[in-house]
Amino acid sequence: MPCWQTTRSWRAPPARVEETAIVTFLSRKTGQFSYFAQQVGDSAWRGKNVLDFGGNVGNILRDPSATIEHPRYWCVDVVRESIDAGRVRYPESHWLYYDRYCFFFNPHGVPGLPLPAMTQKFDYIVAYSVFTNTSRADMLDLVAQLEALLADGGTLAFTYIDPHYEPWPEKRVDNFSWRLEREYGEAKSDEAQNMLRRAADAEWCMLVNGRDLYIEEEVPQAYPADAQKTCHVFYSTSYLRELFPRAEFRRPVNREMQHCCVIRKA
Ligand SMILES: C[S@@+](CC[C@H](N)C(=O)[O-])C[C@H]1O[C@@H](n2cnc3c(N)ncnc32)[C@H](O)[C@@H]1O
Repeated sequence: MPCWQTTRSWRAPPARVEETAIVTFLSRKTGQFSYFAQQVGDSAWRGKNVLDFGGNVGNILRDPSATIEHPRYWCVDVVRESIDAGRVRYPESHWLYYDRYCFFFNPHGVPGLPLPAMTQKFDYIVAYSVFTNTSRADMLDLVAQLEALLADGGTLAFTYIDPHYEPWPEKRVDNFSWRLEREYGEAKSDEAQNMLRRAADAEWCMLVNGRDLYIEEEVPQAYPADAQKTCHVFYSTSYLRELFPRAEFRRPVNREMQHCCVIRKA
């Protein structure tokens, strides 16, 4: 089920003559509040400060079960149009554009840019389907920065995709095979079978543009900005446990495909 509304428009940047392709991503995914409430074991978020990292247009607030107070909601995202659209929809909330490089969503952004300054601490920091599209180095850097924003007793919860997990038992397809078939178009050719074989034993891997598979420490080639189409990153739960030994790991809920990593601050 697609969760994106993709708007492609063309406009000339002010200081340059040639035209640049601008691709905008507005999320249509719903159910994020229900998902995180189950994963953290608490659905009473009234009175809590919430940071939705990579929250796009703030769809977590649209969830009928959401108990987040709008003035206590902050959204940080690398897509300016999503921040602008969210601000129109929920003007009492806080919308921060973050011009950090991201392969798929912000290929012209600044690599390694620190998080925007935020003075308040957060009781909940959530990131739904964000580190599923960023490099491992970015995930490690950003998780450390986000943890520093937790209030005492606060919780950081982010989703990840385990390549070997079969989220829908009746379909008997694991997450990596499902994604490969969607992105590559089929799973029977020699090339597709080769990727499936290589991913089968991987602790983590990255599928770029639906065709280039990088296993663990393999270094991706350089892609020009206009060739940065999709980047799906997969981690086994055992590998994430090594990266975040203090975290709890939860299986997907609501028939979703993404696991959840939960880090609590004492
Ligand atoms: C798959 S979408 C999910 C959007 C939203 N969490 C939802 O569930 O509707 C991933 C989002 O993460 C954002 N993103 C990716 N890298 C980011 C980064 N380094 N910092 C902040 N947001 C980021 C993207 O712009 C995009 O809005």
